[in-house]
Amino acid sequence: MLIDILTIFPEVFIPLEVSIIKRAKEKGLVKINIYNLRDFTRDKHKQVDDFAYGGGKGMVMKPEPIFEGIEYLKVKSDKSSKIILLSPQGTLLTQKMAQGLSREKHLILICGHYEGVDERVRTVVNREISIGDYVLTGGELPAMVLVDSICRLIPGVLPKKAVEEDSFSTGVFDWPHYTRPPVYRGLKVPEVLLSGNHREIANWRQKQAEERTRALRPDLIK
Ligand SMILES: C[S@@+](CC[C@H](N)C(=O)[O-])C[C@H]1O[C@@H](n2cnc3c(N)ncnc32)[C@H](O)[C@@H]1O
Repeated sequence: MLIDILTIFPEVFIPLEVSIIKRAKEKGLVKINIYNLRDFTRDKHKQVDDFAYGGGKGMVMKPEPIFEGIEYLKVKSDKSSKIILLSPQGTLLTQKMAQGLSREKHLILICGHYEGVDERVRTVVNREISIGDYVLTGGELPAMVLVDSICRLIPGVLPKKAVEEDSFSTGVFDWPHYTRPPVYRGLKVPEVLLSGNHREIANWRQKQAEERTRALRPDLIK
């Protein structure tokens, strides 16, 4: 999969250079390119924002660098591209949406800033995605959240079973996890997990997952 990100702050994308995403890139399962929108400007000041027509204090991201950035990336790619605008007004990101996007060949992500992007950008966008009902300063963190949620679902990035058992994949939350030591500050690992009885462990985990989901997010239980 190829993911191209258009931003005015390319330097903030460090989280995509570590851990599981780093390994996915090294294995050739995903390629992530960060493009500076200023490189798609044509004026000597490389201006990416301007005042809002109609007045108001906030700046608006100009349409030209975004349109030209998208055109450049679409021409460069031999794959069919999905263009996504990160926006608090978009559809809320879910695991199901991430699963769908993990099957795409090429994603182009647009990070807004200031008051957001010029409205005309919406005419070239396939999808508008929000990471939650709150407003952040820019689309960079949302883009990284989206990329992370997608990358871990690309086949081969993580063991299939681990991903299938994650919260939101099965309809219930993941079960409680423990590691060594068996007793820590008087807190014991549940006996059943030390028993070696795989059937009992599986039953215990399922029960815990259901109870936890019912207690914390009853809306998820069908
Ligand atoms: C300060 S916000 C603009 C908010 C806009 N004036 C509004 O109220 O809808 C600047 C940029 O941050 C990004 N952004 C902020 N919150 C977001 C969220 N919850 N999900 C996705 N992107 C978000 C978007 O790219 C947006 O264009």
